[in-house]
Amino acid sequence: MTASAPEETRVAAITTGLDRLKRSLRAGGRTAADYRFREPEWSSELVAQTDTHPAITATMADFGYLPHECHGRSDLPDSLAMTGPVALLTPAGAQALRQIGQALKDSAVHNDYVVSHRIRDVETLSPFVHAMVRDKTFLHRVSTLVGVPLIPHPLRDAGVQINYYDPPTAVAQAAPVAKWHRDGMNYVFTMTLSDHDEHEGGDYIYYQGRPEEFDAHRAEITTAGSRHPDVRTAPFRHVGDTMFTRGSRVYHAVTPVTRGHRITFAVSLFCPLLGKQDENRFWHSAPDDGLLRTINNWRLLHQAIRRPGAYCRREAIPVLPVPSLR
Ligand SMILES: [Fe+2]
Repeated sequence: MTASAPEETRVAAITTGLDRLKRSLRAGGRTAADYRFREPEWSSELVAQTDTHPAITATMADFGYLPHECHGRSDLPDSLAMTGPVALLTPAGAQALRQIGQALKDSAVHNDYVVSHRIRDVETLSPFVHAMVRDKTFLHRVSTLVGVPLIPHPLRDAGVQINYYDPPTAVAQAAPVAKWHRDGMNYVFTMTLSDHDEHEGGDYIYYQGRPEEFDAHRAEITTAGSRHPDVRTAPFRHVGDTMFTRGSRVYHAVTPVTRGHRITFAVSLFCPLLGKQDENRFWHSAPDDGLLRTINNWRLLHQAIRRPGAYCRREAIPVLPVPSLR
């Protein structure tokens, strides 16, 4: 982020009931039927196995949450709020994903809801990504980082997304912004597919505090951006750098890209042992996926919450025993 770049990141205007209903009736429809990129083949060997100590590790307590407000249960604590940057994939794996992200860019749809362009349900489009999120080594890696068993999220439309951030195309146009928001998902891994040198702006920033505090001071925080004392910047530097965020509990935004291009890959996961604590809300997804599709997605989510074993068998998802995380 340079000192001269505009940093304002508007608060997501996603709360009005009528707006959500209008978007729900308009949304839906597939856009990447002609995706014909010859993808590299997925291999478990593309999962990273070693880590340097991540620069950021913050618990829910560090964000002001009390023990009884955290996810988890007595035999399965679940209190990590954020960690990273970590590597989920080897450099070769991250480069393969970058190629896929670049190849899918033409299929990304404009969406000013949270980011400017994005693709949802990447798992259905990309055999590489489909295999990756079902790979036992990959799932063990993400589960070990968070400390609870994680599997692909049953809300597949929202489960894997690629976000594209570009500078404004006209001088008079404001830079597109990813607005301050919280996700529906509890467990979100955001991987940059761009080196930071490739763009100016495009910083992932987050508010280290409780959502009520953010809401009470949102004008001040939104205006100050990373200059606010409780706003931190995630240190993404190189292709493959990944942050884990408890997206449903942490307000975050991306500053406008003013030069170059930024691509991020976001994979959200589901804990089959804590399915009832999933924080997705119907009206969070419906404006993106359309009303009918969201109704069906919701049916699948609640099946997975009630019978996670059946969901894993049907979807060929390997089930990780909890002790394997230790
Ligand atoms: Fe987000």
